[in-house]
Amino acid sequence: MKIIQTDTLILGGGLAGLRTAIGVKRRGFDVIILSLVPAKRSHSAAAQGGMQASLGNSVKGKGDNETLHFADTVKGSDWGADQDVIRMFVDTAPKAVRELAAWGVPWNRIQQGDHQSVIDGKQVTLTESAQSHGLLTARNFGGTQKWRTCYVSDGTGHSMLYNMSNQAIAHDIPVHERMEAMSLIHDGQRCYGAIVRNLMTGELIAYVAKSTCIATGGFGRLFRSTTNAVINEGMGAALALETGIAELGNMEAVQFHPTAIFPAGILVTEGCRGDGGLLLDAKLHRFMPDYEPEKKELASRDVVSRWMETHIAKGFGVKSRFGDHLWLDIRLLGKTHIDTHLREVKEICRHFLGIDPVKDLIPVRPAQHYSMGGVRTNFTGQSPTLAGMFSMGEAACWDMHGFNRLGGNSVAETVVSGMIVSEYIADFIESPEGDIAVSSALIEQFHKKEENLLASFSNKTHSENPFMLMREMQEVMTVYVAIFRDESRLQQGVDKLLALRKRAEKIYVASNAKGANPALVAAYRVQRMLKLALCVTYGALQRRESRGAHSRQDYPLRDDKNWLKRTLATWPNEQDNLPTLNYESLNISKMEMAPGWRGYGTKDRIDHPDTLLRQAQVEQIHQQFAKNDPSDKDENTTASTRLQEALMPYKHLLPPSLQGDNERLTQEK
Ligand code: FUM
Repeated sequence: MKIIQTDTLILGGGLAGLRTAIGVKRRGFDVIILSLVPAKRSHSAAAQGGMQASLGNSVKGKGDNETLHFADTVKGSDWGADQDVIRMFVDTAPKAVRELAAWGVPWNRIQQGDHQSVIDGKQVTLTESAQSHGLLTARNFGGTQKWRTCYVSDGTGHSMLYNMSNQAIAHDIPVHERMEAMSLIHDGQRCYGAIVRNLMTGELIAYVAKSTCIATGGFGRLFRSTTNAVINEGMGAALALETGIAELGNMEAVQFHPTAIFPAGILVTEGCRGDGGLLLDAKLHRFMPDYEPEKKELASRDVVSRWMETHIAKGFGVKSRFGDHLWLDIRLLGKTHIDTHLREVKEICRHFLGIDPVKDLIPVRPAQHYSMGGVRTNFTGQSPTLAGMFSMGEAACWDMHGFNRLGGNSVAETVVSGMIVSEYIADFIESPEGDIAVSSALIEQFHKKEENLLASFSNKTHSENPFMLMREMQEVMTVYVAIFRDESRLQQGVDKLLALRKRAEKIYVASNAKGANPALVAAYRVQRMLKLALCVTYGALQRRESRGAHSRQDYPLRDDKNWLKRTLATWPNEQDNLPTLNYESLNISKMEMAPGWRGYGTKDRIDHPDTLLRQAQVEQIHQQFAKNDPSDKDENTTASTRLQEALMPYKHLLPPSLQGDNERLTQEK
């Protein structure tokens, strides 16, 4: 058996994995990235619309700051997120976007003077100041108070990924391509690396590492209708689940993006609506103002997706031979804007629909888009239950998104979490905890287990086809674990997945080719995907409330009294039929923003008994600081720092190199 040793092993060559690798390498440690595909083909490239960072440069971003970004993200999450982590994130996002600018990402920039823009269906003139000329600009996105989404036309992820990948090359970081981690090597307490399969030769190799990072993205391919790439099968989360020790957080929290082209499911960016595009029904009526009079098309994604499905269910959808859909209208933005700011959208429309969005309406319907859930970590990115295992980006439940992620906070999280967590990984490696003494017997045990698994698929008494099982699982998830959920459908979903899992014990792969063998790959992946699907579906069945993207028609209210908690799923024994679910309560008394109304969607909810008290405490702290109580005067700190310390201190959670304040054109102290 070949054994490769390194300080940090990173599974996943997308933005999160690459930025983590760069951070670790800069601290002087060895790092190896494993990737299913060449790094520049990672799914990060599919992010179109942009990255949120509260720069406040443009006229529509004026007055923006970390506190507004924090509030939007907390509301977006429907109070399901970890507010400490959100603060760490919003503080670091401006630094991340500027670092990328310094590395060469060609962000769109402000030009002084008058510009035509479309807001709420009307042409308006926006005037940018001379002072802001040349600074990074930002577009509007859903669920935000300011225009905060920095962008590179509508190829933001593509630009960021190419740049980051080039930086990794410049840092001499090896990317071992077409390599798939099959299992994590661990002793029940400490992770020591992974057993890895070379997808081209079939060889199993042991990578032994002081720290192992899961940065494999989401699990959208559990669903038939998804904007995710074919590589997003959730294998990182599955590896963690297979340990029986590491926890997956909030797997039932699955996001559906309002505008996937119909029926293919390919994303057309929220930037279309941010830039002024409208949603129309079969009668070409703009329906979103009827449901969300204030935010309209730019309410949070979960809200817009639900109203779209509701409108279709009322019979207002456009009929087609593939089913009903709605229209996205960007014609009012004009050819020049589309050709310069939405050119990927134009190409997608041309290649996959045969239409020109300058003249034609785009058929859209919501599709699975993002996994808020994933490998549970603490604020340092490390698993609380398996030392030496870290996770970042979409693969992780860090948890800054709770039950709904805001558009533009995803690519931002990949880079920000990479910046922060890489520092903690380096600290970990430097500390005594980082040392490892792993026996060859343990490595051999995991190696043998994977060898046996692969051999089990050539049992000729078996006959199940892994591709058929995968397709059936995707259908079950799309039909029974969709935007609207209820007890009966979720229970049917669980039952069907259990039946598929039973059948998956009898998979047969005819080809015994050791190297490129898609059926063999599908065989071991589908068994693991079925476990993930059960974590999602069973978690959704148990969560008897509606929160963010988890919408139960039989429990329509957000229920903070009983459900202000994070689901933690483990799979301790292979023979278990279902995951073991535990719950971690969110502590209201420590929240900077006590639970409240999101500003869109339903106002009704069931409050937690501690909510009123915390709301009053927060209000009192704000009043005290508004009065500028002299007893709080301290010449060494600003008023906003002292206010933050009183509300929810978090700066100490950031690595020292990232604790500095962000600068803006108009700075409030
Ligand atoms: O619509 C989009 O451009 C997607 C952005 C995101 O998911 O953050």
